[in-house]
Amino acid sequence: MTTTEERVLLASDEPFVRRLCPHLREPYDGPPVRRIVTPAGDHAWLVSRYAEIKGLLRDDRLGRSHPDPGRKPQYAGNPTYDLATAADHGAGDKFHHDLRKVLQPHFAARHMLHLRPKVEELTAGLVEAFAARPRPADLHAGLSAPLTLLVICELLGVPVGEREQCAALVSRMGGVADEQGDGTAAFFGYLRDLAARKRAAPEDDVISRLVTGNDVTDEQVGEIAMLLLFAGIGSTVKQIDYGFLLLANDPAQRDAVAADPDLVPRAVEEMLRVSGSLSLPRYAREDIEIGGVTIGEDELVLLDLARANMDVDAFDCPAEFDVGRAPNRHLTFAHGAWACMGAPLARILMQVLFTRLLTRLPGLRPLVPAAEVATTDAPLGGGLTDELLVTWY
Ligand code: HEM
Repeated sequence: MTTTEERVLLASDEPFVRRLCPHLREPYDGPPVRRIVTPAGDHAWLVSRYAEIKGLLRDDRLGRSHPDPGRKPQYAGNPTYDLATAADHGAGDKFHHDLRKVLQPHFAARHMLHLRPKVEELTAGLVEAFAARPRPADLHAGLSAPLTLLVICELLGVPVGEREQCAALVSRMGGVADEQGDGTAAFFGYLRDLAARKRAAPEDDVISRLVTGNDVTDEQVGEIAMLLLFAGIGSTVKQIDYGFLLLANDPAQRDAVAADPDLVPRAVEEMLRVSGSLSLPRYAREDIEIGGVTIGEDELVLLDLARANMDVDAFDCPAEFDVGRAPNRHLTFAHGAWACMGAPLARILMQVLFTRLLTRLPGLRPLVPAAEVATTDAPLGGGLTDELLVTWY
Protein backbone atom coordinates (compact mmCIF):
# COMPACT_ATOMS: atom_id res chain seq x y z
CA MET A 1 0.00 0.00 0.00
CA THR A 2 1.32 3.42 -0.92
CA THR A 3 1.30 6.01 1.83
CA THR A 4 1.81 9.72 1.65
CA GLU A 5 4.19 11.36 4.08
CA GLU A 6 2.93 14.41 5.87
CA ARG A 7 4.19 16.78 8.43
CA VAL A 8 1.52 16.37 11.07
CA LEU A 9 1.15 17.81 14.48
CA LEU A 10 0.88 15.13 17.08
CA ALA A 11 -2.18 15.64 19.23
CA SER A 12 0.29 16.53 21.95
CA ASP A 13 1.70 19.32 19.77
CA GLU A 14 -1.60 21.07 19.38
CA PRO A 15 -2.29 24.04 21.59
CA PHE A 16 -4.04 22.97 24.75
CA VAL A 17 -6.92 25.22 23.89
CA ARG A 18 -7.96 22.63 21.30
CA ARG A 19 -8.39 20.11 24.02
CA LEU A 20 -10.17 22.50 26.35
CA CYS A 21 -12.78 23.79 23.90
CA PRO A 22 -15.17 21.01 22.91
CA HIS A 23 -15.56 22.24 19.35
CA LEU A 24 -11.80 22.16 18.87
CA ARG A 25 -11.19 18.90 20.68
CA GLU A 26 -11.78 16.49 17.86
CA PRO A 27 -12.86 12.87 17.94
CA TYR A 28 -10.47 10.71 15.95
CA ASP A 29 -11.62 8.36 13.21
CA GLY A 30 -8.67 8.71 10.85
CA PRO A 31 -6.17 6.13 9.64
CA PRO A 32 -4.54 3.89 12.26
CA VAL A 33 -1.00 4.37 10.95
CA ARG A 34 0.47 7.27 8.98
CA ARG A 35 3.88 8.00 7.55
CA ILE A 36 5.04 11.35 8.89
CA VAL A 37 8.04 13.66 9.08
CA THR A 38 8.95 14.50 12.66
CA PRO A 39 9.87 17.96 13.94
CA ALA A 40 13.52 16.77 13.76
CA GLY A 41 13.02 16.16 10.02
CA ASP A 42 13.20 12.36 10.25
CA HIS A 43 10.70 9.82 8.95
CA ALA A 44 8.44 7.98 11.36
CA TRP A 45 5.19 6.07 11.59
CA LEU A 46 2.49 7.73 13.65
CA VAL A 47 0.03 5.26 15.20
CA SER A 48 -3.16 6.98 16.34
CA ARG A 49 -5.94 4.40 16.80
CA TYR A 50 -6.68 2.93 20.22
CA ALA A 51 -6.74 -0.77 19.22
CA GLU A 52 -3.47 -0.62 17.28
CA ILE A 53 -1.66 1.32 20.04
CA LYS A 54 -2.86 -1.03 22.76
CA GLY A 55 -1.71 -3.99 20.67
CA LEU A 56 1.71 -2.43 20.04
CA LEU A 57 2.20 -1.64 23.73
CA ARG A 58 1.98 -5.40 24.29
CA ASP A 59 4.18 -6.29 21.32
CA ASP A 60 7.81 -7.06 22.07
CA ARG A 61 8.73 -6.38 18.44
CA LEU A 62 8.78 -2.72 19.52
CA GLY A 63 11.38 -1.40 21.95
CA ARG A 64 12.94 1.80 23.23
CA SER A 65 16.40 1.22 21.80
CA HIS A 66 17.92 1.36 18.31
CA PRO A 67 20.89 -0.80 17.25
CA ASP A 68 22.81 2.25 16.00
CA PRO A 69 21.90 5.08 18.43
CA GLY A 70 24.01 7.68 16.61
CA ARG A 71 21.95 7.22 13.43
CA LYS A 72 18.52 6.58 14.82
CA PRO A 73 15.62 8.62 13.43
CA GLN A 74 14.48 11.07 16.09
CA TYR A 75 11.25 12.72 17.02
CA ALA A 76 12.41 16.05 18.37
CA GLY A 77 16.20 16.14 18.22
CA ASN A 78 15.92 17.21 21.85
CA PRO A 79 18.33 15.46 24.24
CA THR A 80 15.80 15.31 27.07
CA TYR A 81 13.10 13.74 24.94
CA ASP A 82 15.57 11.35 23.36
CA LEU A 83 16.57 10.09 26.81
CA ALA A 84 13.43 7.96 26.56
CA THR A 85 15.05 5.99 23.76
CA ALA A 86 18.73 6.41 24.60
CA ALA A 87 19.47 3.05 26.18
CA ASP A 88 21.69 0.55 24.39
CA HIS A 89 20.11 -2.41 22.65
CA GLY A 90 20.02 -5.32 25.06
CA ALA A 91 21.32 -3.33 28.01
CA GLY A 92 18.21 -1.14 27.78
CA ASP A 93 15.93 -4.16 27.86
CA LYS A 94 17.71 -5.60 30.86
CA PHE A 95 17.62 -2.28 32.70
CA HIS A 96 13.90 -1.98 32.01
CA HIS A 97 13.17 -5.54 33.12
CA ASP A 98 15.24 -5.16 36.33
CA LEU A 99 13.74 -1.76 37.08
CA ARG A 100 10.18 -3.06 36.95
CA LYS A 101 11.06 -6.10 39.01
CA VAL A 102 12.65 -4.00 41.74
CA LEU A 103 10.08 -1.21 41.79
CA GLN A 104 6.75 -2.87 41.06
CA PRO A 105 6.13 -4.22 44.59
CA HIS A 106 6.56 -0.73 46.07
CA PHE A 107 4.08 0.86 43.68
CA ALA A 108 1.25 -1.69 43.81
CA ALA A 109 -2.17 -0.08 44.32
CA ARG A 110 -2.49 -1.98 47.62
CA HIS A 111 0.76 -0.48 48.90
CA MET A 112 -0.23 2.99 47.77
CA LEU A 113 -3.42 2.81 49.84
CA HIS A 114 -1.26 2.92 52.98
CA LEU A 115 0.16 6.20 51.74
CA ARG A 116 -3.26 7.78 51.30
CA PRO A 117 -3.66 9.18 54.85
CA LYS A 118 -0.26 10.85 54.53
CA VAL A 119 -1.23 12.30 51.14
CA GLU A 120 -4.43 13.63 52.75
CA GLU A 121 -2.46 15.24 55.57
CA LEU A 122 0.07 16.87 53.21
CA THR A 123 -2.73 18.05 50.90
CA ALA A 124 -4.77 19.55 53.74
CA GLY A 125 -1.73 21.48 55.01
CA LEU A 126 -0.80 22.86 51.60
CA VAL A 127 -4.39 23.78 50.67
CA GLU A 128 -4.78 25.67 53.98
CA ALA A 129 -1.55 27.56 53.35
CA PHE A 130 -2.71 28.30 49.81
CA ALA A 131 -6.11 29.56 50.99
CA ALA A 132 -4.32 32.03 53.28
CA ARG A 133 -2.42 33.62 50.38
CA PRO A 134 -3.39 36.96 48.90
CA ARG A 135 -5.46 36.67 45.73
CA PRO A 136 -4.71 36.09 42.91
CA ALA A 137 -2.32 33.24 43.69
CA ASP A 138 -0.40 30.82 41.51
CA LEU A 139 -1.93 27.34 41.72
CA HIS A 140 0.92 25.80 39.74
CA ALA A 141 3.78 27.05 41.96
CA GLY A 142 1.74 27.15 45.17
CA LEU A 143 -0.05 23.81 45.03
CA SER A 144 0.37 21.43 42.05
CA ALA A 145 4.17 21.46 42.04
CA PRO A 146 4.94 21.47 45.79
CA LEU A 147 2.28 18.86 46.57
CA THR A 148 3.58 16.47 43.92
CA LEU A 149 7.16 16.92 45.10
CA LEU A 150 6.21 16.46 48.76
CA VAL A 151 4.27 13.27 48.07
CA ILE A 152 7.05 11.69 45.99
CA CYS A 153 9.63 12.75 48.64
CA GLU A 154 7.44 11.12 51.27
CA LEU A 155 7.26 7.90 49.28
CA LEU A 156 10.99 7.79 48.64
CA GLY A 157 11.91 8.79 52.19
CA VAL A 158 13.54 12.19 51.62
CA PRO A 159 13.81 13.62 55.17
CA VAL A 160 11.41 16.51 55.89
CA GLY A 161 14.27 18.96 56.53
CA GLU A 162 15.84 18.19 53.13
CA ARG A 163 12.79 18.61 50.91
CA GLU A 164 13.50 22.22 49.98
CA GLN A 165 17.00 21.24 48.97
CA CYS A 166 15.50 18.38 46.96
CA ALA A 167 13.09 20.80 45.22
CA ALA A 168 15.98 23.10 44.29
CA LEU A 169 17.97 20.16 42.92
CA VAL A 170 15.01 18.95 40.85
CA SER A 171 14.46 22.34 39.24
CA ARG A 172 18.18 22.73 38.54
CA MET A 173 18.24 19.33 36.85
CA GLY A 174 15.07 19.96 34.83
CA GLY A 175 16.28 23.36 33.60
CA VAL A 176 17.10 23.66 29.93
CA ALA A 177 20.27 25.43 31.05
CA ASP A 178 21.66 22.20 32.47
CA GLU A 179 23.49 21.36 29.25
CA GLN A 180 26.68 20.35 31.07
CA GLY A 181 24.70 18.01 33.28
CA ASP A 182 25.93 19.76 36.49
CA GLY A 183 22.43 19.82 37.95
CA THR A 184 21.92 16.15 37.15
CA ALA A 185 25.27 15.25 38.76
CA ALA A 186 24.45 17.25 41.92
CA PHE A 187 21.03 15.64 42.24
CA PHE A 188 22.41 12.17 41.64
CA GLY A 189 25.11 12.78 44.29
CA TYR A 190 22.47 13.79 46.82
CA LEU A 191 20.29 10.71 46.15
CA ARG A 192 23.26 8.31 46.21
CA ASP A 193 24.29 9.71 49.61
CA LEU A 194 20.71 9.41 50.82
CA ALA A 195 20.73 5.73 49.77
CA ALA A 196 23.93 5.20 51.79
CA ARG A 197 22.34 6.88 54.84
CA LYS A 198 19.23 4.70 54.51
CA ARG A 199 21.38 1.60 54.23
CA ALA A 200 22.95 2.51 57.57
CA ALA A 201 19.63 3.43 59.23
CA PRO A 202 16.62 2.08 57.26
CA GLU A 203 13.16 3.55 57.73
CA ASP A 204 9.71 2.77 56.28
CA ASP A 205 10.16 4.13 52.75
CA VAL A 206 10.98 3.05 49.19
CA ILE A 207 14.70 3.93 49.27
CA SER A 208 15.16 1.97 52.53
CA ARG A 209 13.32 -1.02 51.10
CA LEU A 210 15.32 -0.87 47.88
CA VAL A 211 18.71 -0.85 49.65
CA THR A 212 17.83 -3.50 52.20
CA GLY A 213 15.71 -5.88 50.12
CA ASN A 214 17.72 -6.08 46.88
CA ASP A 215 21.22 -6.68 45.67
CA VAL A 216 21.72 -3.10 44.46
CA THR A 217 24.43 -0.49 44.99
CA ASP A 218 23.86 3.02 46.33
CA GLU A 219 24.61 4.30 42.80
CA GLN A 220 21.83 2.15 41.33
CA VAL A 221 19.36 3.28 43.98
CA GLY A 222 20.38 6.89 43.32
CA GLU A 223 19.62 6.39 39.61
CA ILE A 224 16.26 4.76 40.32
CA ALA A 225 15.25 7.53 42.73
CA MET A 226 16.23 10.16 40.17
CA LEU A 227 14.18 8.39 37.50
CA LEU A 228 11.16 8.32 39.80
CA LEU A 229 11.36 12.00 40.60
CA PHE A 230 11.93 12.88 36.97
CA ALA A 231 9.16 10.60 35.62
CA GLY A 232 6.71 11.49 38.36
CA ILE A 233 6.87 15.21 38.95
CA GLY A 234 6.39 16.93 35.58
CA SER A 235 3.65 14.58 34.39
CA THR A 236 1.62 14.77 37.59
CA VAL A 237 1.92 18.55 37.96
CA LYS A 238 0.73 18.99 34.40
CA GLN A 239 -2.25 16.67 34.87
CA ILE A 240 -3.30 18.55 38.02
CA ASP A 241 -3.09 21.94 36.28
CA TYR A 242 -4.97 20.71 33.22
CA GLY A 243 -7.52 18.84 35.31
CA PHE A 244 -8.28 22.03 37.22
CA LEU A 245 -8.69 23.95 33.94
CA LEU A 246 -10.96 21.30 32.44
CA LEU A 247 -13.29 21.50 35.43
CA ALA A 248 -13.16 25.30 35.47
CA ASN A 249 -14.00 25.36 31.77
CA ASP A 250 -17.14 23.28 32.23
CA PRO A 251 -19.24 24.59 35.16
CA ALA A 252 -21.98 21.94 34.76
CA GLN A 253 -19.45 19.12 35.05
CA ARG A 254 -17.70 20.89 37.89
CA ASP A 255 -20.96 21.32 39.81
CA ALA A 256 -21.80 17.65 39.27
CA VAL A 257 -18.55 16.55 40.97
CA ALA A 258 -18.89 19.15 43.72
CA ALA A 259 -22.38 17.82 44.50
CA ASP A 260 -21.25 14.19 44.57
CA PRO A 261 -17.68 13.60 45.86
CA ASP A 262 -18.04 9.91 44.94
CA LEU A 263 -17.67 11.09 41.36
CA VAL A 264 -14.12 12.38 41.98
CA PRO A 265 -12.31 9.14 40.94
CA ARG A 266 -14.23 9.06 37.64
CA ALA A 267 -13.68 12.77 37.11
CA VAL A 268 -9.93 12.28 37.60
CA GLU A 269 -9.90 9.48 35.00
CA GLU A 270 -11.70 11.77 32.58
CA MET A 271 -9.19 14.58 33.21
CA LEU A 272 -6.42 12.08 32.50
CA ARG A 273 -8.12 10.87 29.32
CA VAL A 274 -8.81 14.27 27.86
CA SER A 275 -5.55 16.04 28.67
CA GLY A 276 -3.10 13.14 28.66
CA SER A 277 -0.82 14.07 25.83
CA LEU A 278 2.31 11.95 25.65
CA SER A 279 3.37 10.34 22.41
CA LEU A 280 5.74 7.47 23.08
CA PRO A 281 8.72 6.92 20.79
CA ARG A 282 9.65 3.32 19.95
CA TYR A 283 11.76 1.45 17.34
CA ALA A 284 10.64 -1.61 15.40
CA ARG A 285 12.89 -4.62 16.01
CA GLU A 286 11.59 -6.40 12.93
CA ASP A 287 9.09 -5.69 10.17
CA ILE A 288 5.58 -5.25 11.56
CA GLU A 289 2.41 -5.45 9.45
CA ILE A 290 -0.21 -3.20 10.94
CA GLY A 291 -3.13 -1.10 9.75
CA GLY A 292 -2.43 -1.94 6.10
CA VAL A 293 1.22 -0.84 6.15
CA THR A 294 4.56 -2.46 6.89
CA ILE A 295 6.65 -0.75 9.52
CA GLY A 296 10.25 -1.59 8.67
CA GLU A 297 12.87 -2.89 11.09
CA ASP A 298 14.62 -0.03 13.02
CA GLU A 299 12.05 2.55 11.93
CA LEU A 300 10.76 5.10 14.43
CA VAL A 301 7.19 4.56 15.64
CA LEU A 302 5.26 7.18 17.62
CA LEU A 303 2.37 5.96 19.73
CA ASP A 304 0.00 8.90 19.89
CA LEU A 305 -1.74 8.29 23.22
CA ALA A 306 -3.69 11.55 23.03
CA ARG A 307 -5.47 10.62 19.79
CA ALA A 308 -6.08 7.07 21.05
CA ASN A 309 -7.97 8.67 23.93
CA MET A 310 -10.21 10.41 21.37
CA ASP A 311 -10.86 7.28 19.28
CA VAL A 312 -14.52 7.01 18.30
CA ASP A 313 -14.33 3.20 18.38
CA ALA A 314 -13.01 3.15 21.94
CA PHE A 315 -15.10 5.87 23.64
CA ASP A 316 -18.67 7.10 23.29
CA CYS A 317 -18.67 10.76 22.26
CA PRO A 318 -14.92 11.06 22.94
CA ALA A 319 -14.83 14.83 22.42
CA GLU A 320 -17.10 15.35 25.41
CA PHE A 321 -15.61 15.93 28.84
CA ASP A 322 -17.86 13.69 30.94
CA VAL A 323 -16.98 13.37 34.65
CA GLY A 324 -19.25 10.34 34.98
CA ARG A 325 -17.69 8.39 32.09
CA ALA A 326 -17.53 4.66 32.78
CA PRO A 327 -15.83 2.57 31.64
CA ASN A 328 -12.89 4.83 30.85
CA ARG A 329 -9.97 2.73 29.64
CA HIS A 330 -7.77 5.63 28.53
CA LEU A 331 -4.14 5.09 27.61
CA THR A 332 -2.67 8.10 29.41
CA PHE A 333 -0.58 5.79 31.63
CA ALA A 334 0.35 3.59 28.61
CA HIS A 335 -0.27 -0.14 28.99
CA GLY A 336 1.24 -3.59 29.45
CA ALA A 337 4.98 -3.88 29.97
CA TRP A 338 5.33 -0.11 29.65
CA ALA A 339 2.47 0.90 31.91
CA CYS A 340 3.31 3.75 34.25
CA MET A 341 4.39 2.39 37.61
CA GLY A 342 3.40 5.59 39.38
CA ALA A 343 -0.21 5.49 38.14
CA PRO A 344 -1.75 4.38 41.47
CA LEU A 345 0.12 7.17 43.26
CA ALA A 346 -0.81 9.82 40.68
CA ARG A 347 -4.45 8.75 40.93
CA ILE A 348 -4.50 9.01 44.72
CA LEU A 349 -2.79 12.38 44.63
CA MET A 350 -5.25 13.84 42.13
CA GLN A 351 -8.30 12.35 43.84
CA VAL A 352 -7.28 13.70 47.25
CA LEU A 353 -6.39 17.14 45.93
CA PHE A 354 -9.55 17.67 43.87
CA THR A 355 -11.76 16.43 46.71
CA ARG A 356 -10.11 18.91 49.06
CA LEU A 357 -10.20 21.83 46.61
CA LEU A 358 -13.89 21.35 45.80
CA THR A 359 -14.84 21.49 49.47
CA ARG A 360 -12.31 23.94 50.93
CA LEU A 361 -12.20 26.43 48.04
CA PRO A 362 -15.48 25.88 46.13
CA GLY A 363 -15.22 29.25 44.38
CA LEU A 364 -11.73 28.61 43.00
CA ARG A 365 -11.37 29.71 39.38
CA PRO A 366 -8.65 30.79 36.96
CA LEU A 367 -8.03 34.52 36.73
CA VAL A 368 -8.52 34.43 32.94
CA PRO A 369 -10.91 32.08 31.12
CA ALA A 370 -9.49 28.55 31.16
CA ALA A 371 -9.14 28.38 27.38
CA GLU A 372 -6.91 31.48 27.39
CA VAL A 373 -4.33 30.20 29.86
CA ALA A 374 -0.98 30.09 28.09
CA THR A 375 0.54 26.67 27.56
CA THR A 376 3.62 25.32 25.91
CA ASP A 377 3.63 22.41 23.49
CA ALA A 378 7.06 21.11 24.31
CA PRO A 379 7.92 17.71 22.87
CA LEU A 380 7.84 16.13 26.30
CA GLY A 381 4.10 16.68 26.39
CA GLY A 382 3.77 20.38 27.09
CA GLY A 383 2.44 22.08 30.17
CA LEU A 384 1.68 25.54 31.44
CA THR A 385 4.18 28.10 30.22
CA ASP A 386 4.64 29.77 33.52
CA GLU A 387 1.98 30.16 36.14
CA LEU A 388 -1.66 29.36 36.73
CA LEU A 389 -3.15 32.40 38.40
CA VAL A 390 -6.35 31.69 40.27
CA THR A 391 -8.72 33.54 42.53
CA TRP A 392 -11.65 32.56 44.75
CA TYR A 393 -14.45 33.98 46.87
C1 HEM B 1 -0.54 11.78 35.97
C2 HEM B 1 0.74 11.57 36.06
C3 HEM B 1 1.52 10.60 35.21
C4 HEM B 1 1.38 10.26 33.88
C5 HEM B 1 0.37 10.82 32.89
C6 HEM B 1 2.39 9.26 33.59
C7 HEM B 1 2.53 8.64 32.35
C8 HEM B 1 3.47 7.67 32.08
C9 HEM B 1 3.62 7.00 30.81
C10 HEM B 1 2.75 7.24 29.57
C11 HEM B 1 4.64 6.12 30.93
C12 HEM B 1 5.17 5.18 29.84
C13 HEM B 1 6.40 5.81 29.20
C14 HEM B 1 7.00 4.94 28.12
O1 HEM B 1 6.68 3.77 28.02
O2 HEM B 1 7.84 5.44 27.35
C15 HEM B 1 5.15 6.24 32.28
C16 HEM B 1 6.21 5.49 32.78
C17 HEM B 1 6.67 5.59 34.07
N1 HEM B 1 6.16 6.37 35.07
FE1 HEM B 1 4.61 7.61 34.93
N2 HEM B 1 3.12 9.02 34.72
C18 HEM B 1 2.62 9.80 35.74
C19 HEM B 1 3.05 9.84 37.06
C20 HEM B 1 4.06 9.07 37.57
C21 HEM B 1 4.49 9.08 38.97
C22 HEM B 1 3.85 9.91 40.09
C23 HEM B 1 5.55 8.23 39.07
C24 HEM B 1 6.38 7.84 40.26
C25 HEM B 1 6.60 8.55 41.31
C26 HEM B 1 5.77 7.66 37.74
C27 HEM B 1 6.74 6.73 37.45
C28 HEM B 1 6.90 6.14 36.22
C29 HEM B 1 7.94 5.17 35.94
C30 HEM B 1 8.99 4.62 36.91
C31 HEM B 1 7.80 4.83 34.58
C32 HEM B 1 8.69 3.87 33.78
C33 HEM B 1 7.98 2.56 33.59
C34 HEM B 1 8.77 1.65 32.67
O3 HEM B 1 9.76 2.07 32.07
O4 HEM B 1 8.37 0.49 32.56
N3 HEM B 1 4.86 8.20 36.87
N4 HEM B 1 4.42 7.18 32.96
